This record gives sequence, C-alpha cells and structure tokens, in this order.
Amino acid sequence: TDPVPFTGEHQAGIVTPAQDRLHFVALDVTTDSRDELIQLLRDWTAAARRMTAGQDAGPGGAVPDGAYDVPQDTGEAIGLPPAGLTITVGFGPTLFTSADGVDRFGLAARRPGPLVELPAFPGDQIDPAISGGDLCIQACANDPQVAVHAIRNLVRLGAGVVSVRWSQLGFGRTSSTSTGQATPRNLFGFKDGTDNLKAENASTLERFVWVGDEDAEGGRAAWLRGGSYLVARRIRMLIEPWDSSTLNEQEATIGRAKGSGAPLGQREEFDPVDFTARVDGEFAIPETSHVFLAHPTNAGTAILRRGYSFVDGTDGLGRLDAGLFFIAFQRDPATGFVQVQRNLRTDAMNEYVRHTSSAVFACPPGVRDDADWWGRALF
Ligand code: HEM
Repeated sequence: TDPVPFTGEHQAGIVTPAQDRLHFVALDVTTDSRDELIQLLRDWTAAARRMTAGQDAGPGGAVPDGAYDVPQDTGEAIGLPPAGLTITVGFGPTLFTSADGVDRFGLAARRPGPLVELPAFPGDQIDPAISGGDLCIQACANDPQVAVHAIRNLVRLGAGVVSVRWSQLGFGRTSSTSTGQATPRNLFGFKDGTDNLKAENASTLERFVWVGDEDAEGGRAAWLRGGSYLVARRIRMLIEPWDSSTLNEQEATIGRAKGSGAPLGQREEFDPVDFTARVDGEFAIPETSHVFLAHPTNAGTAILRRGYSFVDGTDGLGRLDAGLFFIAFQRDPATGFVQVQRNLRTDAMNEYVRHTSSAVFACPPGVRDDADWWGRALF
C-alpha cells in the first residue's frame, strides 16, 4: 500500500482509515526551555515526515557510513514497507500550565478553553500513573513493528527533553473510519464502528471533529484551527463475566445483533437504528443498551471513535487484563466525549467495563509544507 501523505490541512491518523495496530505514548517535558521544546517539535516533524514515507528516522540511516557515527535510526524497520504509518501529535493541558500552576513555556495565555482535564465519572477507576501527559504521540500502522519503531525513534530524539509517562500497545482496530472498510470486532465479539463518523462525510467532520474558525476564542486558540481534541481512555473489559452471559444478554447490552451487527429489530448491519421498533411489544433496542444511549439522537452529539483492543497480561487474579484502548476525536471534549460518557451513566455495558486511565490532548492542524512543523502556530 502507498504511504499515507504526511502533510495536509489536518494531521493524518484521525480520519485516515483506521490501521490495524497502535502504539500510543504520553510524555512529560522534562526541560523548562521553550527553545528546546520547539527544537524537539521540529525534530519530530522531520523524523515523522521521513518515517511515514518509509525512510529511516534520520538521513544518516540505521547503518551509517562511518563506523564511529551514532546511527540516526534504530534499524528494526529496515526492509519493512511504510505499512500505512501515521504519526499524530497532541498537546496536553499540563503543557500550558503545569500541575503545580507554572507556565513553563509561556503558553498559558494560548491554552484553548476546552483543553482541561476530563471530569471524574461514576465508576471510574483511574490510575494517575497511566493518565495525563504534556504531549502524546499516536502511531498507527498495519505492522506493529513499524508503529513501535516510529514511537521508539521519536522517544530517542527526545532524550533529555521528554520522558515517557505511559505507553499503550493496541493490536486490533475497534473502529472503521471510512465507508470502504469492513467493520472489525472488539473483544466482546461485536462489530464495532458501524455507526462511527466516517472520513467521507465532510460536513459531519466539520461540525463534530475539526476545530473551526468559530473556536478561536478571540485569537487565543486560533493556532488549533484545523486540529482536533483527542480523548484517550484505557477501558478494561471484564471479559470473564461477559463470556458467561447469554447471547440474549449480550445483544441487549449492546443493542445490536452479535452475528450480523444489525441494530436489534433490523436485518442488516447498516440498517438504520430504529428506537421505536418493537419485538413482542417491547422496544427491540433496550433503553439501557449502549447503542441507545450513545446514539446521536439520545446523546445529542457525535464523536469519531478510533480505538484498539489490548491484552496486557494478567490482572494478578487469574484473569486477563484485556480491554479497549478507547480513542475519540472531537471538536470540543465537553460536547464530545464528556457528553456521551455522561449519557452512558445507565449503560448496561458498565457492568462489564472499567475505565482505568484518562487523558486529553489538543492535536494541532496538519503540517502544511517542508518548512512547517507541528505546533508552529502555537509558538
Ligand atoms: C457504538 C462497543 C465504549 C461511544 C458501539 C457499538 C459497539 C460498541 C459494539 C456498536 C457498533 C457501532 O455503531 O460502532 C463499545 C465497547 C466499549 C465502548 C466494547 C468499551 C469497552 C464507548 C465509550 C463511548 C462510546 C466510552 C463514548 C463515551 C459509542 C458511540 C457509538 C458506539 C457514539 C455509536 C452509537 C450509534 O450511533 O448508534 N460501541 N463501546 N463507546 N459507542 Fe461504544
């Protein structure tokens, strides 16, 4: 497959058809130097431009001419194709004002209003050690080695300027973001992504995903125009109780048929959901089902979902530590993820899921040309 273009109005990796693999990393900036931060963003842009095109991270390559030169690439992607690699960068609230209230980089006056830590939700079991971060990098590719290589090299370039706060691998996409893609299945065995926002629907994306001119806050947040907010939630799925529930319970929990993915009461996957449809006098789609509560009619909004499945070993209690690393893109977290998640308060699925990490980042617009770099308009 051809490389995904690196430059554009928007960053790649948002409406790009979701690739199969993810390596996500959140980092803290360890310097107080604005110049070092800017240089890092320039270096990252240059390396990402090369790696997404299938090249080494630096022009000197992994095997330099001089045996006494330090290689400019770590080497594990030699011979591998670009594999659809996209690298998407985001800025966390603490980049603008640190947790103890310090404006380290002179950015506090440019923090967009919506860029604040997410509120707590009932049932949250958030571990601060795998939450938050000054910066994030999302690398998606169809080859796990390519995604890991990309993150590893960007982390390497950041030595002395950033340190890894937490990191998450994802092995199977749990969404489709293009009408051309088949809908994958999540670890509950259900098709996931059927009713997602899709790349082809430009006007919906303008309305719900991309930060627009109207969001400039008198210039304060103008640098984010064409960008989007990334919300990440590591959601543990309690697959053992799920696996011992009946098909009927599972379908009533989701609101769709497990086999076909059709909304309950309909026949085909892409048949429209109909909350008035009845079976034996009862609503076909229960009012406590995930689809009922998450659907735009009832949630009053829409988000672009782009999450991945994970299995991170065991929980120490004889069960798999498995779940969904949920990623959503939206124009404003308050009217995106937060609004939907609040509406999911009575979701029957809550019995089977636990949110264990939380983070929000503002992803700047795309890099326009060879001279441009991530976040240039911010600095
Ligand atoms: C739809 C699974 C968490 C928002 C769906 C569907 C499934 C599903 C199977 C139906 C297929 C589709 O239309 O994509 C899950 C699982 C989750 C999870 C297993 C956690 C482990 C969340 C969270 C949110 C969310 C945290 C947002 C706060 C949505 C939305 C839809 C949806 C907006 C589309 C509903 C519609 O328009 O019909 N999810 N989901 N999901 N989910 Fe989730």
